[in-house]
Amino acid sequence: MRSRFERMVSAVERAQVLDAPSYQVEHGVSLTFLLAGRYARPLQDLLHGVWLGHPVHPFLVTVPVGAWTAAALLDGLDATGRGGPGTAQAAQAVVGLGVAGAVASAATGMTDWQHAHDEARRVGLVHAALNSTALALYSWSLADRRRGRAVRARVTAAVGYAVVLAGGYLGGTLSYRHRLGVDHSVGSREPRRFTRVADLADLPDGEPVGVDVAGVPVVLVGTEGAVRAVSGRCPHQGAPLGEGWLHRDELVCPWHGSRFDLDTGEPAQGPSTAPLPCYDTRIRDGRVEVRRRAHWRSATALTTVEEASR
Ligand code: FES
Repeated sequence: MRSRFERMVSAVERAQVLDAPSYQVEHGVSLTFLLAGRYARPLQDLLHGVWLGHPVHPFLVTVPVGAWTAAALLDGLDATGRGGPGTAQAAQAVVGLGVAGAVASAATGMTDWQHAHDEARRVGLVHAALNSTALALYSWSLADRRRGRAVRARVTAAVGYAVVLAGGYLGGTLSYRHRLGVDHSVGSREPRRFTRVADLADLPDGEPVGVDVAGVPVVLVGTEGAVRAVSGRCPHQGAPLGEGWLHRDELVCPWHGSRFDLDTGEPAQGPSTAPLPCYDTRIRDGRVEVRRRAHWRSATALTTVEEASR
């Protein structure tokens, strides 16, 4: 059983035939946001979950999955004559709730998926196709329930539930194997002690510079004699932030344009929903030293200048 699932997922990951339709869908998503004009960016940040500090999609999918699981139970009771007088109405209500939740979770999922690459893009496309199929089946089931076609409504919902489970399996693959929606910033707590990383004189003013601190990528930004330091890897999908740039004193990711506050690491713009880890900095004898900040959400970056003789 396990290897059968594994083979199916691998087949989807290798299916280059999915690339052309996936780019068409992505262009459709981009065009939709373009039509929103100046509201496009806030709308995308809302759907990504920047306001929440966590992707919205994973917890929103619990609405259709939970509602349709309840519908399957109620349909089973109704079909076997064990339900009460309001069972069919309750099933209809939760199917409707699931349809509404599925529309919302599709919007958040497509917004996240548009930045996926390669295998994750293909798996995401099939995941979306399965969930869209399930949504269509449940919408059909809901219409049948309203028309009093109870048997066909229950059969359609049962097929839809099987499709939802298959879509959910691929959703798990996207999270646990392809790490979509996972924080990719540096997880290491190092360096715990101040460590020399660069000469202050070598830092260009207002330009991010990537350095390696014992295997940990860090970005230094020197402005007017002060130096701030943040993780060198973007939380969204791990882009090298040393190749990014500054925009209004925020660090911009070179891959998908997330912008991060240099003092707190908080994303000012998505798609990243997670903040960047920050580092304390100090300057000693003209050398920049960094230390991973113990409480990296604290609001102020620390730059101290110390004389070598102290
Ligand atoms: S990797 Fe996507 S915004 Fe940075």
